[in-house]
Amino acid sequence: MIVLGVESSCDETGLALYDTERGLLAHALHSQVAMHEAYGGVVPELASRDHVRRAIPLLEQILQQSKVPLSAIDAIGYTQGPGLAGALLVGAAIANSLGLALQKPVLGVHHLEGHLLSPLLSEKPPVFPFVALLVSGGHTQLMRVEGVGQYVLLGETLDDAAGEAFDKSAKLLGLGYPGGPAISRLAESGDPSVHLLPRPMLHSKNLDFSFSGLKTAVLTLVKKQDAHLSETDKAHIARAFVEAIVEVLTAKCLAALKQTGLKRLVIAGGVGANQQLRLALNIAAERKRFEVFYPELALCTDNGAMIAFAAALRLKNKLAMGSTDYSFNVKPRWPLDAIEITS
Ligand code: KG4
Ligand code: ZN
Repeated sequence: MIVLGVESSCDETGLALYDTERGLLAHALHSQVAMHEAYGGVVPELASRDHVRRAIPLLEQILQQSKVPLSAIDAIGYTQGPGLAGALLVGAAIANSLGLALQKPVLGVHHLEGHLLSPLLSEKPPVFPFVALLVSGGHTQLMRVEGVGQYVLLGETLDDAAGEAFDKSAKLLGLGYPGGPAISRLAESGDPSVHLLPRPMLHSKNLDFSFSGLKTAVLTLVKKQDAHLSETDKAHIARAFVEAIVEVLTAKCLAALKQTGLKRLVIAGGVGANQQLRLALNIAAERKRFEVFYPELALCTDNGAMIAFAAALRLKNKLAMGSTDYSFNVKPRWPLDAIEITS
């Protein structure tokens, strides 16, 4: 079965073809980062318009790459939510129009389920059950994953998401958008002993997070040194920020493994690309004897491959049939543990 995946929930247009026999056949991505950079963040209306421009050329690209004719597609999965309403509508409209033209079933995929299952696409995939840490620009959640479609929320952020904390702190340091990779690079040259930032909810005895105070702490440091903020000062602040957030994320993962008694941890979402986080988790895994799994670097941030894959797994496991009436809606807010098994 060949499944086309369409991702358009935010500022990346991603299309991919996944074959349940042969694996990932092709995936293509257009990032709108350069377009939104001038505004310091994603402008929803611009994002929607750009998805309209990019989707069909990307589709042509993956068909050419994989040498699969359009008529060989068996089903189409698209990101139905959560995300920006207008951006989601573009992907939903494209997926349903193609479905109608090809007379193939179409199904809405939960964006976070895509992230969550994306490590299964890597060379060394985890087996179920596992604990998953979802760390993206919009979400920070710990889940217990029993199997495809079986997700139990263990804890989540009460305010900012981890990626949001990276982006906002980077902005305070004048590092542009998106700030995650930039602040992480700058932190490499910073001295961790210069500033000590708070570790929010580190000892909260539950698996929830809170990151908005961390950003405020960065703001306080920036204000204190304001006019004299040299590159070295910025690097020290960046380092203090990364140290704090990585320590909290790592500690909560360990607590979730302890609480569930599981020995496998999966990291998914954009912040999962962070090298300092990966290093801390790898060290903890060795010390505490658990296994940690990551998606391929290119599949950490938003992409169409994870959507095609999640759709294929839902169809294969008979958790979804796909719809053939081609009417659609989107779900800008959609908790993952409220996912419907038979959509
Ligand atoms: O999963 P994703 O592409 O989009 C959402 O679903 O939100 O995640 C994007 C987030 C952004 O906040 C970005 O700054 C962050 O992931 N990110 C990183 C890194 N690469 C991306 N954060 C820290 N270090 C990175 N290397
Ligand atoms: Zn995402």
